[in-house]
Amino acid sequence: MSILKIGTNQSLNGTLVVPGDKSISHRALMMSCLVGGNCRVSNLNLGQDVLNTLDFMRSLGVMVDRSSHTDFALFFDLKYPDKMLNVWCGNSGTMVRLGMGVVSGIGVDVEFDGDESLRSRPMDRVIEPLKAMGARIDSQPKGRLPVGVMQSKLHGISYSLPTPSAQVKSSLMFAGVNAAGVTEIFESKTTRRHTEELFALTEIEFEEKETDLGHFIKIEGPVKPTEFSLNIPCDPSQAAFFITGALITKNSDVRLENVYLGKERTGFLRVLERMKANVNVYVTSAEPFPVGVLEACSSELVATDIQPYEVADMIDEIPILAVCAANASGVSRFMGLAELRVKETDRILTICELLKSFGVDIAAEGDDLIIAGRPKVNPNRIAVDSYLDHRIAMSAAIFALGLQSKESFVEIKDFDCVSTSYNGFLDDLRLLGVVDG
Ligand code: S3P
Repeated sequence: MSILKIGTNQSLNGTLVVPGDKSISHRALMMSCLVGGNCRVSNLNLGQDVLNTLDFMRSLGVMVDRSSHTDFALFFDLKYPDKMLNVWCGNSGTMVRLGMGVVSGIGVDVEFDGDESLRSRPMDRVIEPLKAMGARIDSQPKGRLPVGVMQSKLHGISYSLPTPSAQVKSSLMFAGVNAAGVTEIFESKTTRRHTEELFALTEIEFEEKETDLGHFIKIEGPVKPTEFSLNIPCDPSQAAFFITGALITKNSDVRLENVYLGKERTGFLRVLERMKANVNVYVTSAEPFPVGVLEACSSELVATDIQPYEVADMIDEIPILAVCAANASGVSRFMGLAELRVKETDRILTICELLKSFGVDIAAEGDDLIIAGRPKVNPNRIAVDSYLDHRIAMSAAIFALGLQSKESFVEIKDFDCVSTSYNGFLDDLRLLGVVDG
């Protein structure tokens, strides 16, 4: 058990480059094994989730040559192993769900497993459509890890996602690469487009359009992706922690460079604008995807509501947006958060518990969160729990920095869990001038 002791009432100043985007990192590695040639990825996210995916690729025959700390060359020798592979996915829903799509149509048998949190998360959302494509998949208990995916021949299907999910969409897109015939996917709302962006980069022909039913994707398989080279932009979900840190602390001013700015990942910026946050966004390049600079400084935030249709664009930023709401004047209501119940923790519950332990007036009503801003707390010491959820742990640390009380500190239990996505989180806070508690 690790406890972080972090000082309150701090300021953040300076320029930072946060790690490479986690979602893009998983996808780039998985795409390399479908390419079966030579690929290069740089600025890979080195959190444990992505390192597990890197090991998974190695076990599939991808040879990895690390040319610098975050830069990798990936070669594939086109020989899949002939024994059952046991693949450890740790804490990562993205790895297992996309991984099932990748392996279901290639000549290999795989058993996926993960930690206690991952074992409790629903997998039927990908198992069912993959089975409809002809995949042979067993899970015990049903719809949960461990899951066995056996070699099979896939065929295309037409599938409407019951709930918008980039993981489900991407799993089916990866399966579609090796499926015979047409795979059609509808999602009522466009979710993060990283798999589409990678398809374009690897010259996979596919159709993508907005229809009355929402976002539509069509792939005619089997298709062969081409070799690629990708410099992964920085993770907007990680940037959101430092943006919030600057907004809720006094005399702060931070700049984050080379951040991925695709519309489906930056809903939190639109919410912050409504909250009257001092944030500037500069797009520095548009191709192959929007990337730019974010600047934020201390702000007087005001409450806002988040509508259910907005949630997909900020699905991972709800914990840190709750920290913003707790520091805003007025009452905020975040609506339609049902999907948060099946993240690394039940985040409706863990956000409530975390902010309550800081003295915030917060309540869950069904799948909504109601947060009254500006807590009147003046603690000398607060002990809070991360619940082993990396985003809850980082949100706790940022909240602590904004607490206005002299000579006090906060203790965060199991803070090490941030290594899931961001080993250097504390070092980066220190770079911005934060001192330990
Ligand atoms: C992800 C999609 C989202 C997100 C997760 C990463 C991805 O999950 O919460 O952290 O990389 O596709 P859902 O697809 O379950 O919404």
